[in-house]
Parts: sequence; C-alpha cells; structure tokens
Amino acid sequence: MQHITVIGAGTMGNGIAHIFAQNQFSVCLMDISEASLQKALQTISANLERQIQKATLSEAQKDQALANIQLSTDLQEAVASADLVIEAASENLAVKLKIFADLDSLCPPHTLLASNTSSISITKIAAATQRPQNVIGMHFFNPVPVMKLVEVINGYATAPATSQAIVQLATQLGKIPVQVNDYPGFAANRILLPMLNEAFYALYEGIAGVEEIDQAMKLGMGHPMGPLQLADFVGLDICLDILQVMHQGLGHPKYAPCPLLINMVAAGHLGQKSGMGFYDYSGGPKASRVALRFRKT
Ligand code: 3HC
Repeated sequence: MQHITVIGAGTMGNGIAHIFAQNQFSVCLMDISEASLQKALQTISANLERQIQKATLSEAQKDQALANIQLSTDLQEAVASADLVIEAASENLAVKLKIFADLDSLCPPHTLLASNTSSISITKIAAATQRPQNVIGMHFFNPVPVMKLVEVINGYATAPATSQAIVQLATQLGKIPVQVNDYPGFAANRILLPMLNEAFYALYEGIAGVEEIDQAMKLGMGHPMGPLQLADFVGLDICLDILQVMHQGLGHPKYAPCPLLINMVAAGHLGQKSGMGFYDYSGGPKASRVALRFRKT
C-alpha cells in the first residue's frame, strides 16, 4: 500500500496525513475548502517542527514529509490512484453515507475504504457501497502523531483480508492496532465516554468543582488530563454525539448524556475549538482557566 488519500483536513485529518507522510507514504489530503487545506498544512508543518525541537526528526525528514503531501479540493482527482482512503470528515451519518457512495463509484476496485469515525456504525457506512468487504474503521486518537492506539473496527461484512491489511498498515506507522467489533462506541469510546459523562454529572450535581474533578483523576489515577479538560480537548459536541449514538444504539439509560453537556453544546461552548468549555481558552490552550463554577441550587 503506497497511495493514501485522507478526506477532511480538520484536527484528525491533518494528524492522519502527518503520520502517513512522515512514514514515506504518498498522501493526498482532500477537503472541499482550500482554506482548510492550507491551515492543515501549516499545522502539520508546526507539529513536525515540534518533533525537530525534541530531536526525534531531522530538518531533511520534515522536508521529505511535507513533500509527500499533495492537497486537493477535487474528490475524483484525489482518489484516482488511492490504495486506501481514510475518511475523517464531519461526524454526520448523511455526510458519511454520501462520501462513501461517491468513493465507491470513483475509486479503483482494489481501494480499501476506511472511516476514522468515533461512533458511527461501520456496517451502515459499508452498506452505502457495493464493496462492504473493503470497508473498515481505522480510528486514530488525538493528537494523532502522539497517541499509539489505532482501533481497527470490523464491520459486519468486513473481509479478514481487509482487517489484516489495516492492522499491518497501522503497525508500519509505529502504532499499536487493536481489533474490535462494530457496536455503538466500539471499545475505546464505549469505556471513555461513560467516564467523561460521570465527570459532567459530578460537576452538575455539585459534588466537586472543575479543577477538583480533574485533579482527582490526574493525581489519583495517573491520567495525563482530567476528564473535563479531556472533554474540552475532544470537543463537547463530539462527546455529545458519541453518547447519543450509544444511548440510542444500546438503549440503556446509563448512557444518557448529562443535561449540563447538552446545555453547553446548545450554547456553543464546545471546548478548546470554540475557546470556551469547562475551561476558558481565550488566553490560549496553555493558559486556560476554569470557566464554569457550577453549583446545584
Ligand atoms: N503533534 C506532534 N507532537 C505533539 C502534538 C502534535 N499534535 N501534541 C503534542 N505533541 C508532543 C509534544 O511535542 C511532546 O513531545 P515529547 O514527549 O517528546 O516532549 C508530547 O507530545 C507532550 O506534549 P506537551 O509537552 O505539549 O504537553 P503534555 O505533556 O501536556 O501532553 C498530550 C499533551 C499528549 C495531549 C497529553 O496531555 C495527553 O496524552 N492527553 C490525553 C490525550 C487523549 O486521551 N487523547 C485521546 C482522546 S479520545 C479520542 O481522540 C477519540 C475520539 O474518538 C473521541
């Protein structure tokens, strides 16, 4: 596998393009917005620069990685010679079904089609194509260049050869693949989101404040980020989407999203990306301060 196309130049898409390019794959990063593509390239360049500062990458390797990336706003052109397409577009079922139906008609027959979705059913996505055996979940974690895990999600019709190819590819990237089956939340988010939701409830019920909840989990459990800081980092809208998929798909009230989370998303307080969540990022991510002092009355 040599030619990789990544659809969507947001946080996950640019991270995925970054690690493939750094590992000598030929990458085409595709987005409908030229401005998003240019922003993604700047982010990749800045993150490669971080690696140079840490002496884990040379200037020449950075230049080579950037030279391995092409940008495109044209889906047909972007996938014409792709061995693998990884979709990292917005977390919306209708959008993904349309993208996969288009990919199926535009890609060569051998092309494998992967989604980086955090919660949408791979089986449903695969059913929008005539090649469900070639469709799989390849779920990276943010920040992609740093996090070791790739969750490989086998849809109902995914062929064993497709799973093996993706497991091998993840290993080539220096990642650790874990294979899971296609049920709501898969494995990692099925476990993570109830923990984050419990932290939202602890704040909502006035059990403790933002910093206290985060300190408890950082210092008591050795987590690198507290759950409220992590939720801000992931995006509160994404957290809500995943909980809703799990609540609807599994039908158990334990997955019902906390009303506080629902309100925050409705208010546009989405975490780091909107500048405001449980913390206020108006001074930048490194200078965040508590935004929410919720007390139940
Ligand atoms: N690209 C490249 N390198 C990066 C990077 C990026 N985007 N972001 C951070 N780094 C590197 C830094 O250069 C640094 O490298 P070093 O270890 O060689 O010094 C290292 O990562 C640590 O970064 P910082 O010193 O800037 O900051 P921290 O020590 O605070 O670590 C963190 C930042 C790695 C994000 C850490 O806080 C962490 O691991 N947080 C938890 C992240 C997590 O749980 N992610 C999963 C979210 S869930 C998800 O993605 C699934 C989805 O479906 C919801």
